[in-house]
Amino acid sequence: MVEALREELADLTASVRAFLEWHAGTGAEGLPGHPSALHEALGASPSEGALAPRRAERGFPGPEAPSPPGPRGGSAAAGAPAPHPPEQRSAAAGSPAPHHPEQRSAAASASAPHAPDPRITAGPHPEPRTTEPQAMRPPVQAPWGPEPPPRPAVSAAAAPRADTAARANAPPPGTPEERATRLLLIAEEVRTCEKCPLHEGRTHTVFSRGSPLSEVVFVGEGPGAEEDLQGEPFVGPAGQLLDKMIAAMGYHRDDVYICNIVKCRPPKNRKPEPAEMAACSPYLTSQLALIKPKVIVALGATAVQGLIGTNEGITKLRGTWKLYKGSIPIMPTFHPAYLLRQPNAKRDVWSDLKEVMRHLGKSAPDRG
Ligand code: URA
Ligand code: SF4
Repeated sequence: MVEALREELADLTASVRAFLEWHAGTGAEGLPGHPSALHEALGASPSEGALAPRRAERGFPGPEAPSPPGPRGGSAAAGAPAPHPPEQRSAAAGSPAPHHPEQRSAAASASAPHAPDPRITAGPHPEPRTTEPQAMRPPVQAPWGPEPPPRPAVSAAAAPRADTAARANAPPPGTPEERATRLLLIAEEVRTCEKCPLHEGRTHTVFSRGSPLSEVVFVGEGPGAEEDLQGEPFVGPAGQLLDKMIAAMGYHRDDVYICNIVKCRPPKNRKPEPAEMAACSPYLTSQLALIKPKVIVALGATAVQGLIGTNEGITKLRGTWKLYKGSIPIMPTFHPAYLLRQPNAKRDVWSDLKEVMRHLGKSAPDRG
């Protein structure tokens, strides 16, 4: 008898708690309009939920492999769960608030119309993706994200109201705000991603930096030690050289969008495995689908491989236009880390970047 009462009380408590949690989660008191706040309101603390295949189904070896020691240094690197400073994360997610929108759009409209370039040839295409990245779907399915509400009886009454409120506050489709919001949602999904073994050794995921309104996107291989610590791509020595390359093209480092094939650091900076690249590629596909750049600069052979699936060496590939998904021109060039070891190759890279600028209708400063 006492047992039964106790159980009933426990059930009631759970019910009330579930309702309160859910109520807080829907933001039913009134939803904020700012994109990042909206992002919170949309329930963007995704877990993989039922949408993601389990580890074994993805073709990775069974039980968790021990986290490779790697030269990351410090105890934070030893596979501890990543701390989550929210400001840093949203900044890394691609500058949701562009600094100078007018300047951006002026830059975009100043560039030449996008005429087909006869030198651009289609490369082999990666396997068609069978799973659509979660964040490419309409952002508002349910305000609590992929998890079902704990108490359907309670949620049924309030859910439509919260859903409608979230929609009313969502930025209009096709606007820069909507693009930034969607990118934030993907970055948030990446932050908790465990789709490949690289998550085991990461300190931070590394999603992007720069402007989501950029006409040019630079794609690298994957985070290095410094990027893993800071949660931003190309902030180490190779990144400093990349910034100089970008400045030579007449851009500020924050004017262009920069990301990588894989979002977690491979141990000891090894090249990402094909299965890791495949697991991570839906995120890059979504990033590029939202940004729709006029040109992609692929930094190094791994970047080209991740984008179009070719195994050719970068010495052969560089300087020759390829096509991403049949539509976006790709210029393969040497990775800046290679340039740190082989400064003589800077001349080739500069020639490739000038070709990019020609394609964009930008005048190239004369640097030989
Ligand atoms: N190398 C890369 O390919 N990406 C980074 O983000 C840093 C170094
Ligand atoms: Fe997920 Fe990509 Fe990190 Fe692998 S590398 S865990 S797929 S975010």
